[in-house]
Amino acid sequence: MPDEALDLDTPAEELPPDDARELVATIRAEIARHDRLYHVDGHPEISDARYDRLFQRLQEVEKRFPHLQSDTSPTQRVAGEPRGELPTLPHAAPMLSLDSTQDPEEVRRFLDRMRKALGSDEIEYLLEPKLDGVSLELVYERGVLARAVTRGNGREGEGVIDNVRTIPSVPLRLREADRGTPEFLSVRGEVLMSLSAFEALNEELVKAGVEPYSNPRNSASGALRQLDASITARRPLQCLAYDVLEVRGPTFRSDEEVVGALREWGFPIPERVRTVRSVDEILEYHAAFERDRDSLDYEIDGIVVKLNGLRERTDLGATAHHPRWAIAFKFEPRKEITRIERIVIQVGRTGVLTPVALLLPVEVGGVTVSRASLHNREELERRDIREEDLVRVQRAGDVIPQVVEVIAEEGRTRAAPFSMPDRCPECRTPVQTKGPFTVCPNRLACPAQLKGRLSHFASREGLDIEGLGSETASLLVERGLVTELADVFDLEEQDLLPLPGFAEKSARNLTAAIRSRRTTELRRFLYAVGIPEVGSAVAGDLASHFGTLERLWDAGEEDIQDVGGVGPRMAEQIRGFFQEPANRAAVARLRDRMEALTVPTGESPGGPFHGRRFVFTGTLESMSRSRAKELVEDAGGRAVSSVSGETHFLVAGAGRGSKLEAARKLGVTILSEQEFLAMLADAGIGL
Ligand code: IVH
Repeated sequence: MPDEALDLDTPAEELPPDDARELVATIRAEIARHDRLYHVDGHPEISDARYDRLFQRLQEVEKRFPHLQSDTSPTQRVAGEPRGELPTLPHAAPMLSLDSTQDPEEVRRFLDRMRKALGSDEIEYLLEPKLDGVSLELVYERGVLARAVTRGNGREGEGVIDNVRTIPSVPLRLREADRGTPEFLSVRGEVLMSLSAFEALNEELVKAGVEPYSNPRNSASGALRQLDASITARRPLQCLAYDVLEVRGPTFRSDEEVVGALREWGFPIPERVRTVRSVDEILEYHAAFERDRDSLDYEIDGIVVKLNGLRERTDLGATAHHPRWAIAFKFEPRKEITRIERIVIQVGRTGVLTPVALLLPVEVGGVTVSRASLHNREELERRDIREEDLVRVQRAGDVIPQVVEVIAEEGRTRAAPFSMPDRCPECRTPVQTKGPFTVCPNRLACPAQLKGRLSHFASREGLDIEGLGSETASLLVERGLVTELADVFDLEEQDLLPLPGFAEKSARNLTAAIRSRRTTELRRFLYAVGIPEVGSAVAGDLASHFGTLERLWDAGEEDIQDVGGVGPRMAEQIRGFFQEPANRAAVARLRDRMEALTVPTGESPGGPFHGRRFVFTGTLESMSRSRAKELVEDAGGRAVSSVSGETHFLVAGAGRGSKLEAARKLGVTILSEQEFLAMLADAGIGL
């Protein structure tokens, strides 16, 4: 219906209920259509004023007739209440990553391998730009947006539907299409922030005294993971769809058909999607995109070459990380020439002194670069980089900008070689040399190390405290508000208000974010306190093995080595950390302020099979293998898929396999199904 014919004027109170229902349905469909025309097709048909009028009218009528409200109404794109934290949700199918290369020869070899494996020379490839954004899964149930999940670890990610609803180009409901509405649809896409929006946002942040984002991808990622959807709503994000992870209903033979369907269902898709048959066409496509790269308003870092046929894809399959039917053909990282103004020393959380080049700001592929790490003393000497040198810098993906080379300038006298300082620039303690590194040994009292520890503590893999980034961490240390990590939990709104960049709301949000972390997963806590050598994965293993901080704390080196993946050196470091009185005291003070350190169920320690690894092979008669695994995990054990030196038991069902051989060789205890059942019974586990 032409929307001029819509009744926008009768006061809502006077509308008969049936008319209201019809009007609401019609306006919603109209708004969805105009959203698509504007955000997806780029061909708006009505003025902004007319659009706003439609929107207001819908709000008016929904308000008067609340029973007509619906999650798929465009009015629901408007953010609701902030959340405490984002839920972890599983993906409908694993979200794999892509194998990648910059080398055309390697692309050729990849295509050869694929042709050989498929036994055919007549293969079609689908080409797309490789969008440099944040990967996202969108799930539609009976055509309605039901879930939106970040990639996370590929199997599960963070649920961000409230935020995603605010992205205008994401359909809340699939458009009616000839091929019908699927019962279930999981779409993979990429969330992007345009370069122009990114720059505008950074300008705003700088004005507000907040640290700007380093590139559009981080900025899109930050926006997507907000706890308060009204912040996401103010960040102009787009989402382009490029893959179907799972669908029930329609069937497809090729990726081309998939992309066609995505378009019909109302998703924006990447530009210039093409199918080709030859390597030359692929190289040409790559070259053309690389040429046009700087004129695009969004970041791409290469192209993706995919097998078009879906049956062939199934034949080729995937490794644990990436499919065998696609490859990312990346561009050369962008390089620019600029001058080093000064070399300064940065002191990190572990006390390592890093030389950093301060550059005359230069734009590298749309992003301004003004500093680059020079790594360590040895690197600096080897490459002989000096202050005032002319250098070529590059920015590759999320890697921090690098100095590629020094450019010789004839007739110009260079500055003297740079030498590392004798004292820590932050606390004046004499430094020590450790291999290629220079280290400040003043662990506890050096303010720079505390700043680093604090931002590590609050970081995403640590306690994930929203609003406590490196800038704020520095401020808190400089103002003496935090003199050790435990102080974070004593911060009050009044302490924050005088800090630059803080107002009532941000102070309230930060203290609330900190408070919400008084209950934290033990694994995050162990990562956050900064035990040497302990990254996020090891922290997770330690947490599920020991179950409580106290048990780890008193564990000997040998106990620690029982944890899979922890070798003697690491065990020594961990034990050493907890042995040192100052560390013990600092961790204890921190612990006192926490309400609970949790270990998710399934990893619960102390179960009868705690710390035991099981592998299953062959067919079990009394239960399915997945049920058997579940029982093991419920009892605190771990069911893993392959036999290694760390396996405790191999449960051998009917039919022998290579796992049995491996277990014998490694001296792993082999259990028959009967023995396994007896073990369960002994442990008091009913089937
Ligand atoms: S296909 C399993 N197509 O690149 C294959 N990925 O390095 C699914 N990406 O995490 C990916 N543009 O987020 C595909 N046109 C495109 C893409 C694309 C960007 C991202 C994706 C993935 C990363 C892999």
